[in-house]
Amino acid sequence: MSEKETLTPTTIVIFGATGDLAKRKLFPAFYNLFIDDRMPKDFNIIALGRAENDDENFRNYIKENLENFSRKKVTSEDWEAFQSHIVYFRHQLDEVNSYKALNQKLEDFDKVYETRANRLFYLSIAPNFVSAISGHMKNASIASDPKKDRIIIEKPFGHDKASAIELNNLLSQTFEEEQIYRIDHYLGKETVQNILAFRFGNSIFEPLWNHRHIESIQITVAEEVGVETRAAFYEQTGALRDMIQNHLLQILCMVSMEAPASLESSEIRDKKVDVLKSIRRITPEKVDHYAVRGQYGKGKINGVDAKAYREEEGVASDSNTETFAAIKFYLDNERWQNTPFYVRTGKKMKEKHSYITIQFKELPHSTFSDGPSQLSANRLIINIQPSMDIRLQFMSKKPGLSLELKPVEMVFNDFACQENSPEAYETLLLEALLGDLTLFMRSDQVEEAWDVMKTIQETWQSRKDASFPNYKAGSWGPEESNALVERQGHKWV
Ligand code: BG6
Repeated sequence: MSEKETLTPTTIVIFGATGDLAKRKLFPAFYNLFIDDRMPKDFNIIALGRAENDDENFRNYIKENLENFSRKKVTSEDWEAFQSHIVYFRHQLDEVNSYKALNQKLEDFDKVYETRANRLFYLSIAPNFVSAISGHMKNASIASDPKKDRIIIEKPFGHDKASAIELNNLLSQTFEEEQIYRIDHYLGKETVQNILAFRFGNSIFEPLWNHRHIESIQITVAEEVGVETRAAFYEQTGALRDMIQNHLLQILCMVSMEAPASLESSEIRDKKVDVLKSIRRITPEKVDHYAVRGQYGKGKINGVDAKAYREEEGVASDSNTETFAAIKFYLDNERWQNTPFYVRTGKKMKEKHSYITIQFKELPHSTFSDGPSQLSANRLIINIQPSMDIRLQFMSKKPGLSLELKPVEMVFNDFACQENSPEAYETLLLEALLGDLTLFMRSDQVEEAWDVMKTIQETWQSRKDASFPNYKAGSWGPEESNALVERQGHKWV
């Protein structure tokens, strides 16, 4: 992207600017981009909220939150410079006149910039408002220039395939596909982006990256937190929709996709859709064979008592919502024939840890099999968070007079040393400002990902799980999740 394009004047409009995401992620991301000199010279952020408020009051509220959530320290000099770009604008999502007034505001800024600026609309609102907002935006011709106007939409993007299609159709009445930036914040994480660099920027790994050399692949996204204040949302969502349909499937795509011919966004997105299409669809009778769900009961995390999910505020005492899911996927393509991809995610697990494990095959014949040492197959671990490193495990000779082997590890931890690694939202917002869609989801990707989930989702919905809760808070999930991998002689790493 050229320097000039980064400098295009832009007006950013945040719907839901008084919400949690805006205060924790969006304003801190814009602030950090600003002090890193990555924002356009001419920009303004219009913060939309329902309540009566004024600029000064709203700016003070943002400042207080920046002090808690900004990656970089908030200095008075930087803040003074940044705050003048924020304006609060009272707005009613469902009132025609509010959109007319907003349009006027946008045009006023254009006059100041002396050009028709780019417009970036961030929809940080509950999904049920998307339809009304996009209809009003269309009628008010607020985002009518497909080359300059962009809309960013947060997940959840639908709640199943049919609703995702409906939402895509609805958005397509107002926006061109190239204007729509569907966020999956995992794609903005440094370590997730590095998967492509690691795979396709080196010649030594790619020849081994297939079913002939790899025994299995595991993707774990374990969280220590529970549902916190989001019970109302989570009760309707569960781990499958909240995490697997988006974040984990996106990681799976990055790990397994074919090499793109270039870094063009359409090229990379095509390759990811190919992966999603190749994931084997299962029949309802096979769901228990391929998928395990769980819900946490009481337990202890780091020595502290933790409540059961059903005891959390806002959760039904007989809730059937899964807080853990583990699935075995197969990709029916040449590269990955018969290689299991195990994915799992859960809330209130033993520790916060997201990582990918590439388990290589054992040697067909071992020269050392008679020796005292135990051979372990090679393994590559890509730690996504909180540790951010890549570990290659291999066998080496133990120092000493006899020929004994021991497993050793080679670690690359450049990211961990970089205190200045940008937050995912910084990366994603910058890409949206630049008009690069690579890290965002295209409509067909979202629909295909829901299609992958369909049978499991429907089967789980149709039956209540009598065994809930089936794992202790502070554990690694239900016992059945171990059985899922052990059936094939594997183990969660
Ligand atoms: C969100 C989910 O998309 O991702 C949350 O809705 C989850 O339930 C969060 O906690 C995890 O994100 P991160 O970046 O903390 O791993």
